[in-house]
Amino acid sequence: MSLVCSLALATACGGGGSGEPAAETAVAPDTLLPAPAESLLTQDSASRSIQRGLALLVFTRDSLPSHVGNALHCTSCHLDKGRKPFANPLVGVTNRYPAYWARTGTEVTVEDRVNDCFRRSLNGRPLRAGGADMRDIVAYLTWLSSEMPKGPHAGLGVDSIPPLQPDTVRGKTQFAMYCSRCHGADGQSGSRLGIERYGPPLWGPQSFSIGSGMSRLRIVAAFVHHHMPFDAPGFVADSISYDVAGFVLSRPRPDFPGKELDWPKGGAPEDLAYKTKAKR
Ligand code: HEC
Ligand code: HEC
Repeated sequence: MSLVCSLALATACGGGGSGEPAAETAVAPDTLLPAPAESLLTQDSASRSIQRGLALLVFTRDSLPSHVGNALHCTSCHLDKGRKPFANPLVGVTNRYPAYWARTGTEVTVEDRVNDCFRRSLNGRPLRAGGADMRDIVAYLTWLSSEMPKGPHAGLGVDSIPPLQPDTVRGKTQFAMYCSRCHGADGQSGSRLGIERYGPPLWGPQSFSIGSGMSRLRIVAAFVHHHMPFDAPGFVADSISYDVAGFVLSRPRPDFPGKELDWPKGGAPEDLAYKTKAKR
C-alpha cells in the first residue's frame, strides 16, 4: 500500500483494499457525480425501497429517532444525497465493498460502514443487519452507484487539499466571519431550537463524535474548502479552511469509547484527533 493510501481514508483508496490512491482526475467540486435520475423511479417495490432509503438519509433523525443521538442527518456530511464530489460521496460505494479496512483491521461490508456512521457520526445505535431500514438504505446506495464504474474515481478522499498546519486563533476570527451566520457563534445553531435552521451543529453534544471520520482535520478542511460557506462554496482558501477546521475541532464534542482500539495494525492517519494503542 502506498504512503498516501495508508495515511488516507478508505475513501481515498477506493475502499481501502485496492492499494492505489483514488485517481484525482479533474472533477469540479460544484458538479454532481453520475447517478440515475430520480424521476425514473416508479411505484414498484424496488423503487419504493430506494426512495425510502433516500428519505432515511435526508430525514435520518425524524425517521429513526432511536438510532440517532445528535442533530445531524446523513446528508449533513454526504452532501447532495451523496452525489457531491469531495463531500464524502456515496456514489460508487457499493462497488467499493466488501473490502479490507485498516481502521478495523478486518474486511467490512457496506452495511458495516453505514452502521459505523450511525454510531460515530450520528452518535447513535446501529441498525439491525437484516432489517428493512438497512435494506432500504443499501438499496438506495446500490442504485446510486449503478452508473459508476468499479474502482477508484475522482471526487473521493482528501488528496484534493494539501496537508497544512492550522492556526486555531486565526480560525476563531475566521469562523466568526465566514461560518457563524449559519452555524451560530457558539457552533450550535441546529440544536438551539431543536430544529435545523441554517447549518447543523459543528461541536457540542449535538454534533459528531470524536470517533467520526469528520473529526479528522484534513477531512473537515477539504469539506470546508470545497463546500462551505454553503451559499458561496469555493470562497475559502486552503489555509483558511485549515484554520477554521482546526478551530472547530478544538471545541468539545462527544467522546467515542473504544476509539483507541482503531487501526489495530497501525497506520492511523497523522491528522487523527486521538491516540490509538497500535503504533501509527
Ligand atoms: C449559508 C449557511 C452556511 C454557512 C455560511 C456555512 N455553512 Fe456549513 N453547513 C451549512 C449547511 C446547510 C450544512 C448541511 C448541509 C445539508 O444538510 O444539506 C452545513 C454543513 C457543514 C458541516 C458538516 C456537518 C456538521 O455539522 O459538521 C461542516 C463541518 C460545516 N458545515 C462547516 C462550516 C464552516 C467551517 C463554515 C465557515 C467557513 C461554514 N460551514 C459555513 C450551512 C452553512
Ligand atoms: C458527521 C458527518 C457524517 C455523517 C452525519 C454521516 N457520515 Fe458517513 N461518512 C462520513 C465521513 C467523513 C466518511 C469517510 C470517512 C471515514 O472513513 O470515516 C463517511 C463514510 C461513509 C461510508 C463509506 C464511504 C466509502 O466510500 O468508504 C458510508 C457508506 C457512509 N458514510 C454512510 C453514512 C450514512 C448512511 C449516514 C447516515 C446514517 C452517514 N454516513 C452519516 C461522515 C458522515
